[in-house]
Amino acid sequence: MKHFLEEFSKNSKKVLCSQIDESLLKQSVVVSGWVQNQRDHGHFAFLDLKDHTGVLQIFLDLDLLKKFKISLNSVLAVKGTLLKRPEGTENKKLKTGLFELKVEEVQVLSSSDVLPIDPEDEKVRDSLKLKYRYLFLRSEKLQKYLKLRDEVVHTVRQTLRKEGFLECETPILYRTTPEGARDYLVPSRIHQGQFYSLVQSPQILKQLLMIGGVWKYFQMARCFRDEDLRSDRQPEFTQIDLEMSFVDIADVLELNEKIIRALWKDVEIEKLSYQDSMEYYGSDQPDLRIPLKLRALEDVEDLGIEIFNKTIKNKGRIKSLALPSSECWNRSALDKLTKEIKNLGSRGLIYIKEENGQFNSSLSFSQGVLKKLYEKAKGLPKGLIFIIAGEESLVNTCFSFLISYTARKMSLIDSSKDKFVWITNFPLFALEEGSVVSMHHPFTMPDDKGLSSSELIEKLKNSMGNTDETSQWTSKAYDLVCNGQEVAGGSIRIHNPEIQNLVFKILGLNDQKIQDQFGFFIEALRYGTPPHGGIAWGLDRLVMILSGTDDIRDVIPFPKTLQAACLMSQAPSMVDEARLRELGLSLKKGLK
Ligand code: AMO
Repeated sequence: MKHFLEEFSKNSKKVLCSQIDESLLKQSVVVSGWVQNQRDHGHFAFLDLKDHTGVLQIFLDLDLLKKFKISLNSVLAVKGTLLKRPEGTENKKLKTGLFELKVEEVQVLSSSDVLPIDPEDEKVRDSLKLKYRYLFLRSEKLQKYLKLRDEVVHTVRQTLRKEGFLECETPILYRTTPEGARDYLVPSRIHQGQFYSLVQSPQILKQLLMIGGVWKYFQMARCFRDEDLRSDRQPEFTQIDLEMSFVDIADVLELNEKIIRALWKDVEIEKLSYQDSMEYYGSDQPDLRIPLKLRALEDVEDLGIEIFNKTIKNKGRIKSLALPSSECWNRSALDKLTKEIKNLGSRGLIYIKEENGQFNSSLSFSQGVLKKLYEKAKGLPKGLIFIIAGEESLVNTCFSFLISYTARKMSLIDSSKDKFVWITNFPLFALEEGSVVSMHHPFTMPDDKGLSSSELIEKLKNSMGNTDETSQWTSKAYDLVCNGQEVAGGSIRIHNPEIQNLVFKILGLNDQKIQDQFGFFIEALRYGTPPHGGIAWGLDRLVMILSGTDDIRDVIPFPKTLQAACLMSQAPSMVDEARLRELGLSLKKGLK
């Protein structure tokens, strides 16, 4: 069997651009790569030859160039003598900038048409970058991100293997797994009229692995979710998915902090309860690089301000935010922000500015009342405070937006360090349009707060159909947030079949539905299930943070558009009638 270019590189050394150094001077070497720039000087053409490790300047006779019809972006193998560049012509920016290759022989491995886009041109339209993704992948930026992704995967794998984890694959063609999004369905040819779901995550499967005695599992798991897309969400993404037996919350957090420290040299990791996070940041994904914290302002009754008293009577909230300066907040900036806050559903935004003891406000109250309010909100000299009153979740939504808007506008984000925070003590359930839903997923263990299993079961029974009771439950779930973005989420799981059954019931599933969808799982829980818990990291989001990009598509080789389409291959696409018939399907009229 022959090696690649065996004949051509006989008596020469086959090298990569990164291997070019003094030791090869005056030697015959063979380099392969893409032709980049062409500069003609007299009889010679100077070209850059680029491979995946770097660039090398080569030069050859113009006649040779013409003979082989070498165009830009063609793929060549060249053989020649490595020389030192003449003094004064070195390129210090280039690793190989001291050398050049005097080409003696050329082999055109593949010629290239004129490229439809310049991979290095950031201004190329997004749709073209996606259509010609394979060309855009050649750009320095995407090459860098691909390498970073590879390094992250490698480091995580090494860390987990060292901790005794077993890497294990689970099926993608499966049945619905409740992660809160819509499933992608795959029609079965053999079982006509039936469908597989593509896994939204291997949640149930990894729990079954614990029952199967795997002890500690991880996987770089592909997940599929048919949901509305954003700049940090793709329909198909990768999780670093892991699960551990015989653990409680602290064990899982400790293990994950090892992963963080393997990836980051210098990093801060804090812990916040869900309740405190909502109270002080209005969000369960706070960006702790921003030095701003909300303050409750409910002790304002004595000021006799009607909107505040009404809010208190209606069990609403009044919160305030004090800014260190009012410098970039002129009237039009304040009006613009007020409009944004109103768009979120608030009736308004109150501001008070202080300057030399004078208070300027959107409220038309006496200076005395404004001063008292300003002091209660801990306003600073020459500063500004914002106040929002109303229903709690709305106040929080508005302030969460306001904090990041203000931080960006006033350049308050300390980007010298990435800041992690664990959010814990989540509610177990949430109310969505009057129905009880899981805040995380239905396999999350309720926080027993010291109750025995039988007491817990009794309490769960009492919660059925009682939303006042369900809202009291907290869970053993935790999210990991970095710079205001959720990067991982997990929990300690229910390992008792009766508790699992009751949780499904509280979520509105009747016995038949539980049996149909989760019967096999509840049965599995009966055969000796170790207490277990785990987490899943969004690998793409993790690489996004490490690379500093704010577009998830930058860290995925072949991403989809916000409409979940692949512009390169035109997926999704129509299929033949015959294929549909085979699957027992037909399209509605008008869809053909
Ligand atoms: P969850 O649904 O929170 O948990 O997902 C875990 C992490 O996956 C990432 N993620 C996404 N990344 C890109 N595009 C998406 N559409 C997308 N959706 C989620 C996020 C998120 O934190 N089975 C549970 C985990 C567990 O309990 O162990 C799960 O999937 O970074």
